Amino acid sequence: MAKTYKIALIPGDGTGPEVVKEAVKVVNAAAAKGGFKPEFTSFDFGSARYLKTGETLPDSALAEFKKFDSMFLGAIGHPDVKPGILEAGILLKIRFALDQYINLRPVKLYPNVETPLKDKGPEDIDFVVIRENTGGIYTGHGGATRVGTQDEIATQLMVYDRRTVDRCLKYAFELKKKRNAENAKYAAKPITLVHKRNVLTHCGDLWYRAFEEMGSKEYPMLKRDYNHVDAANMWFVKNPEWFDVVVTENLFGDIITDLGAMIQGGLGVASGGNINPGGVSMFEPMGGSAPKYAGQNVINPMAAIGAAMMMLDALGETKSSQAIEASMIAVMQKMKSQAAGHMGMGTTEVGDSIADLVAKS
Ligand code: IPM
Ligand code: MN
Repeated sequence: MAKTYKIALIPGDGTGPEVVKEAVKVVNAAAAKGGFKPEFTSFDFGSARYLKTGETLPDSALAEFKKFDSMFLGAIGHPDVKPGILEAGILLKIRFALDQYINLRPVKLYPNVETPLKDKGPEDIDFVVIRENTGGIYTGHGGATRVGTQDEIATQLMVYDRRTVDRCLKYAFELKKKRNAENAKYAAKPITLVHKRNVLTHCGDLWYRAFEEMGSKEYPMLKRDYNHVDAANMWFVKNPEWFDVVVTENLFGDIITDLGAMIQGGLGVASGGNINPGGVSMFEPMGGSAPKYAGQNVINPMAAIGAAMMMLDALGETKSSQAIEASMIAVMQKMKSQAAGHMGMGTTEVGDSIADLVAKS
């Protein structure tokens, strides 16, 4: 009997449902070919439901999600909803409750995709950022007093414990080991810890010592490097070819991965995974809900299809995942641009073309 994967879909807002539809199309094509069976269940969490009912994500949904093999998110966000509500109430709630402690963000420039970096090409931009995904400033520790007065005080704390740091580093070192075994080009490069230990002397020190200890004891064969986060930004632009696996804490990871998305060709192509290595992970295109493009068949589904590729890889369907990547690359060669509205193709056409190639692969 064909292996079945139960996949929870949260298409979400704006262009989310359109790109999720194309990703589903491609997964179905890969499944028919690869001999597995995806079973999709859609959930309507997002702004429409929130604006109607005041509910973001009930706890019962979290219990439900734990029964799935994987989750797939479109995008969440609406101009009528105050920033922070849907983010905390849906996306961050899922990341925390399902303990998706790794945010995996490949930064890979494919051929014929435009990068704003002059004189840099696909051979220069091919690395992965491992962003810690459950700790740090995102935990919400802190508060505000004397609000609205001249003496107002607000704090938001960067919280880390050794276990949270270690499990993230472990994932990063293991990935680095795997990449080195796959490709000599990767093996020539270090694993890079990014922090700000010259100023964040407590948290930065914790991360640095943990990195050095684990690296020297358990992975002495892997070259280690360290960058302050401000310098890392600079090197991402000036020498992206120096990087292979980059590991960092939550907020710094959030910031540097938007830069990463830009140098790989923009939000139209950037995908990410919220990974719980022993549990239920959730994959998503990095872009937002882009309401101004909704319903016009102009949004690029490539990032969502890339997220589907990552999902199948995580589920162990390596061949299907590789077939999707090869098909994405082939279709990229025919597209005018990866920017919404400038693709020279419609949303559904991109999805259809990739699905066709996957079916023929
Ligand atoms: C991301 C997003 C989220 C984050 C927001 C929407 C809460 O920017 O996934 O990078 O900050 O993690
Ligand atoms: Mn972000």
